[in-house]
Amino acid sequence: MKKVAIYPGSFDPITNGHVDIIERGVEIFDELIVAVAHNPQKANLFSEKERVDMIRQIFKGRKNIEVDSFSCLLVDYVARRQAKVIMKGLRFVSDFEYEFQMALTNRRMNSQIETLFMMASEPYSYLSSGLVKEIASLEGSVSGMVPKLVEKRLREKLQKKGKGKKDAVS
Ligand code: PNS
Repeated sequence: MKKVAIYPGSFDPITNGHVDIIERGVEIFDELIVAVAHNPQKANLFSEKERVDMIRQIFKGRKNIEVDSFSCLLVDYVARRQAKVIMKGLRFVSDFEYEFQMALTNRRMNSQIETLFMMASEPYSYLSSGLVKEIASLEGSVSGMVPKLVEKRLREKLQKKGKGKKDAVS
């Protein structure tokens, strides 16, 4: 039986911290499915399709890494994909409360599914998609925090947004 794990998240956008967790995760499982959450209530910078496309390009040619999206309950998605493990990254103690609550709630909904936490590697332990977006939006450098492709997409997206704003007032 193939050991499949699901690595869910918003990935808005994917950071080098996420990439590190994915690379370490595929060493443990036969297959890792990176599952991009579609949440219309959340104001994401990148659309679901853009987030999926970026991750697909980053892991292009990697046979044991699949990139997918889901819009239902995570436990239902995991069951549909016939996986048994949800893999999550943990950074600081501050992540723990939220992650612990989600892991226990997910277990209550489906006790067949385990949540496995992997500690972030030290250089990425402070990284978050939110901070990356804030730095990029204030024209700071996010080099080394995100893959090169994401850096490029962030610049393009923020330029487009800035242009939209200027067009609206002119
Ligand atoms: O990267 P994020 O934003 O921390 O990821 C959170 C995510 C997508 C894993 C979480 O919001 C989720 O599982 N959403 C799917 C809907 C769901 O199952 N909600 C109940 C969780 S207990």
